Amino acid sequence: MRFTVAIDGPAAAGKGTISRAVAARFGFAHLDTGALYRAVGVKGGDPVVAAQTLGPQDLEREDLRTGAAGQVASKVAAIPEVRAALVQFQREFARREGGAVLDGRDIGTVICPDAEVKLFVTASPEVRAHRRWLELGGDEREVLADVRERDARDMNRADAPLRPAEDALVLDTSEMGVDAAVQAACDLIAARRR
Ligand code: DC
Repeated sequence: MRFTVAIDGPAAAGKGTISRAVAARFGFAHLDTGALYRAVGVKGGDPVVAAQTLGPQDLEREDLRTGAAGQVASKVAAIPEVRAALVQFQREFARREGGAVLDGRDIGTVICPDAEVKLFVTASPEVRAHRRWLELGGDEREVLADVRERDARDMNRADAPLRPAEDALVLDTSEMGVDAAVQAACDLIAARRR
């Protein structure tokens, strides 16, 4: 059985939580595609070479979740050759036997335009910054400025900008909360699998 769930949205909207919950519930494999861009960014050197030679050890680094890694990821993600080097791995993951959930920015629009289920998970910048601050600490105003800067870069780049696919279900987790969003995602997947 091949079944792809594409979950896109801006930083700290709840994509990771929803993806992990969906993967556990349906027994699907999960790929956090942001980790690929984070790993390219923290690897250093020429980002195109880093993307072309990315290996499992690069994805196991402990420093991928920091705010600095998120910023450098957003910068290298604007380079078309970096994105191109990561496409095939993501597409193969998406079509693996047993089902797959991929979360990122361009899964429903570019990587898997034929995904069986597409979700766009969003929330206000303030709500997302507050969640990131609870997770990472620091100065909450700086975290908000960081979220806004990353949103602007991810939405305005020329190659694969962050935007909802036309056929995506939009879930605003500032209104409904992440638990309700998980439920809505599971309901949609269950309906499409029949
Ligand atoms: O989801 P995240 O915060 O870990 O992503 C880090 C950065 O990587 C994000 O700001 C933009 C980039 N990214 C991307 O361009 N495309 C993806 N599919 C996933 C992440």
